[in-house]
Amino acid sequence: MDFHVITLFPEMFAALDAALMGRAQKGGLVAVHAHNLREHGLGNYRQVDDTPYGGGSGMVMRPEPIAAAIDAVAATRPGLTKILLTPQGERFDQPLARELAATCAGGIMLIAGRYEGFDERVRELVDREVSIGDYVLSGGELAAMVVIEAVARLVPGVLGNAESLDEESFGAGNLLEYPHYTRPEEFRGMRVPEILLSGDHGKIRAWRAAEALRRTARRRPELVAGRRGKPEP
Ligand code: ADE
Repeated sequence: MDFHVITLFPEMFAALDAALMGRAQKGGLVAVHAHNLREHGLGNYRQVDDTPYGGGSGMVMRPEPIAAAIDAVAATRPGLTKILLTPQGERFDQPLARELAATCAGGIMLIAGRYEGFDERVRELVDREVSIGDYVLSGGELAAMVVIEAVARLVPGVLGNAESLDEESFGAGNLLEYPHYTRPEEFRGMRVPEILLSGDHGKIRAWRAAEALRRTARRRPELVAGRRGKPEP
């Protein structure tokens, strides 16, 4: 899957050259291209923002550079879904990551803003608006990276083991994941639950399902209330 980001800070996306995303890019399963919005800035100073009509503090991103950048990227890649990162967008979560992975085979364009916000007319240029949570970042770059990583790891082959997608938190049952243990059997007086050492895989499966549900009910009761997918274990 191809991701094209429009940003004033393309160098930030080098972070996606490491670890899982780096491997996915080297393997050709995922490609991340960062396009510099500044190249479409206005005048000698390549201006991308201006003072707000009606007064007030801060700067607002002008629509023309963003429109020009979107058009330039879309001209050669017509199938991209255009997503604007903004705290006012729909909330990004695992179901939305799954939806984007399933429906955006033509790739995703992410528009990351800076400063106080966008000229309102920019909203008309995109397919959807996404927020990664109810807090304000100084720009959409980190939000774009969150979306890219969460969607890219759902692309077949990126993780290697499809089963791990079902079992992880917010997986098939949209629950938090069951607790994990590895060696040693005892650490600072805390023992690995006996059942995990029993070798009885049926019992282990049932224990894990019950633990996932118990943990979710305690930490995130709203997820249990609004449960979809798998029947109760
Ligand atoms: N830009 C600034 N804050 C953001 C957020 N929470 N989500 C998406 N884009 C943003």
